[in-house]
Amino acid sequence: MSSVLSRRAVLRGGFGLAAVGALSACGAAAVGRDGAGSATAGSAFGGSTQTPPSAAAPAAGQRVVTASLTPGPARVDLGGIAVDTWAYGATVPGKPIRAAAGDFLKVTVANRLPADTTVHWHGIRLDNAADGVPGMTQDPIAPGAMFDYGFAVPDPGTYFFHPHVGVQLDRGLYGPLIVDDPHEPGRYDDEWVVVLDDWIDGTGTTPDEVLRKLTGGSDTTGGAGPMGGAMDHGSMGMGSGGTGGAGMGGMMGAPPWGDAGDIAYPHFLINGKTPTDPVVFSGKPGQRVRIRLINAASDTIFAVSLGGHRMTVTHTDGWATEPTDTGALYVGMGERYDLLVTLGDGAFPLVAIPFGKTGQARAIVRTSPGAATPAPDVPAQQPRDILIGSRLAPAPETILPARKPDATADLVLTGSMSPYVWMMGGAVYGKNTPLTVDAGHRLRIRVVNMSMMAHPIHLHGHTFALADSGLRKDTVMLAPMETRAIDLDADNRGDWALHCHNICHAEAGMMTELRYTA
Ligand code: C2O
Ligand code: CU
Repeated sequence: MSSVLSRRAVLRGGFGLAAVGALSACGAAAVGRDGAGSATAGSAFGGSTQTPPSAAAPAAGQRVVTASLTPGPARVDLGGIAVDTWAYGATVPGKPIRAAAGDFLKVTVANRLPADTTVHWHGIRLDNAADGVPGMTQDPIAPGAMFDYGFAVPDPGTYFFHPHVGVQLDRGLYGPLIVDDPHEPGRYDDEWVVVLDDWIDGTGTTPDEVLRKLTGGSDTTGGAGPMGGAMDHGSMGMGSGGTGGAGMGGMMGAPPWGDAGDIAYPHFLINGKTPTDPVVFSGKPGQRVRIRLINAASDTIFAVSLGGHRMTVTHTDGWATEPTDTGALYVGMGERYDLLVTLGDGAFPLVAIPFGKTGQARAIVRTSPGAATPAPDVPAQQPRDILIGSRLAPAPETILPARKPDATADLVLTGSMSPYVWMMGGAVYGKNTPLTVDAGHRLRIRVVNMSMMAHPIHLHGHTFALADSGLRKDTVMLAPMETRAIDLDADNRGDWALHCHNICHAEAGMMTELRYTA
């Protein structure tokens, strides 16, 4: 829908529908950007290596960790279902990148996609030039070109990386980024990185086609073929119930997220596999396992539980919380949670139920070779038993020093399914007014959700504190009609993306910028 697009939205910001253009112009050169320090993409694979002009270099004595990523077309097996997709190498998720807090990470990206791409390091408080937002922090990496990212990783925790171009994240382009704590108290025996995803690519359609159907005129509920597509929940603002049990609010313990996502995905994955061929984690009874949970889905909130176990939430978005026991928890798009579990004796399903949608993602924890594999269908939890992450309490050492905000800004979220337009600050990205902050100030942002959908709101380059509790996050779920204030200390200069991590919403305009003015 070109009326919601400005030239600027195409050029700036990454999720600004640039991929649709890139896709229809396969192999086209990168969108150029004038200005000092603007790098030029290499014209052939193996060509020039772009270095971000202002990238921080490693300090003397700083440990340097190197890695490489090769985004390109790949055929992957989701568990009896082979799909052609785009991935970092041959697997989905991409191989984890691992460093320790304080290290300098150097990642070389060789773009073998038939489209521009970038890599964003979700949740890392990094140098602005390495943030991976095309048109805001770098030129896109053209097909065949290479790009070097270099940045320090200041904070330990569970993070991930993904492109910041179009709906590329909704293909197989994502992988874990784990930053170890050199002072880790070591309260666990083993670790398991668990990445959740909703999947449609290569099942007769692509994420770009699905988005085109959502944005492409009145037929927004026509679906994307027999395997799934747009969800039929009509126009927004009326509390229409969604499908698959999202239901209407009003009852005690009613599901908190309103209308489910916009897309009825045919598959849900844990570590790249559907429940027909689940990933198995092998351990020993009594072992303490740290589960690092990452929701890389584009349009799906999951409720996660481990059959027969309680879980202790210890961190969210990398930051320690008061340890909190639960049987299940919600994980919004872009959120991460670290959990401790003490393994029982047997075989247990790790289940991720997509909120308001049909299906599930599933993996197996096995500590006893003889135990029968658990039944595939695990009933959804009672909503009242599912922990909502923003209600966690922060660990005392993570609380920002007490201080009155120097400035306050409002960020209003609105939108509709038909036409499919999602806005921040009353307009789509490129037409809305960026938020501004002076370096050194504490900024309070009042996020006001005026829509009947939930939105995971993500800020680049910073972590914020929830004003009511002090909980540190970089991605926070806003329930329908919810208002929530977040506080951030402006200690990382640059232009930073601030957007909904429902990638279709971001593409349809639900994004803005936080700019440093002084
Ligand atoms: Cu993972 Cu701009 O986001
Ligand atoms: Cu959203």
